[in-house]
Parts: sequence; structure tokens; C-alpha cells
Amino acid sequence: MIRFTLNGEPVEIDAAPDRSLARILRDDLGRTGTKIGCDIGRCGACTVLLGGQAVNACLVIAWRLAGQHVTTIEGLDSLPVSKALVQGMTEANAFQCGYCAPGTMMQLAALLTDEPEASDDTIRAALEGNLCRCTGYHSILRGARRAADLLRAETQDKD
Ligand code: FES
Ligand code: FES
Repeated sequence: MIRFTLNGEPVEIDAAPDRSLARILRDDLGRTGTKIGCDIGRCGACTVLLGGQAVNACLVIAWRLAGQHVTTIEGLDSLPVSKALVQGMTEANAFQCGYCAPGTMMQLAALLTDEPEASDDTIRAALEGNLCRCTGYHSILRGARRAADLLRAETQDKD
């Protein structure tokens, strides 16, 4: 049995030690917000947070989950950056088909949590592993930029 926390809730699951977190989420726990594209760590569709760090869930195997905190797109709302991130991406019409969206959003959530005022170069670097087949990336980058600007405005309002 492997025990970990998923979006703030305790989870206990009987999984083979080498079963991937992506498969556990989707196939064993029915949390299908996390997508699988390549299943080999190349596309970023499966990005989730593990202990606050963005990881490819297809490369995280079950034994690494013991005692960990996992946040998926279903738990995005619990993160302080979520409001600005969702608003920024919505205003920019960031996604088309949306298949890459959960992974991209979680990658950006990790970045903006660590670096709320991330530069364009930092945003681009953070998204290098998140592939999108539809948008050409411009709208995603615009949305991320807008989210960072909203977070900066929030910080200034508090000062
Ligand atoms: S499905 Fe995990 S990186 Fe592509
Ligand atoms: S919006 Fe379709 S893959 Fe990114």
C-alpha cells in the first residue's frame, strides 16, 4: 500500500512500485484532468506538482509517492497563484483544443509560485518541456505574461 496526499486529501492505493503516477491518477483514481501524451517524459502533458515542484507524472513511479503531496489540475484552485493564472490565460485565449492545458497550467503554477514576477525569458524556459500542437505558443506566453503582471499588481496593492 502506498499512502500520499492528493489535492489535500489522503490517498491509499495498492499499486505496483513501478506504476507511474500518471496511470495511478487517471486509471486507478479516475482523476483524468492530468493528460498523457508521450508517456516518456517528452511532452509535459502530464505535469503535476510533487512537493510543490513541477514533474512529469509519467516518470514518477509509485514508490516515490510515499508521504508526498501531489497537486493536479483538479487542485489548482487551492494554490495562491491560481486566480491570476486562470484570469491571465483566459484573457489571452491561451489554449485551443486544451489537451496541453492541464500540464502547462501546472508548470506555470509552479513557476509563478516560486517567481511571481517571472520575466518573459524565465517563462519561456519554464515551458520548454510543455508541447502544444495547436497554438504556436504565442497565446500561451501572452497568458503567462498577463498572469505574472496580475501577480505583480496584487503584490503592489498589498505594499
Ligand atoms: S505524458 Fe508525461 S511527459 Fe508526455
Ligand atoms: S491547445 Fe491543443 S495541444 Fe495545446
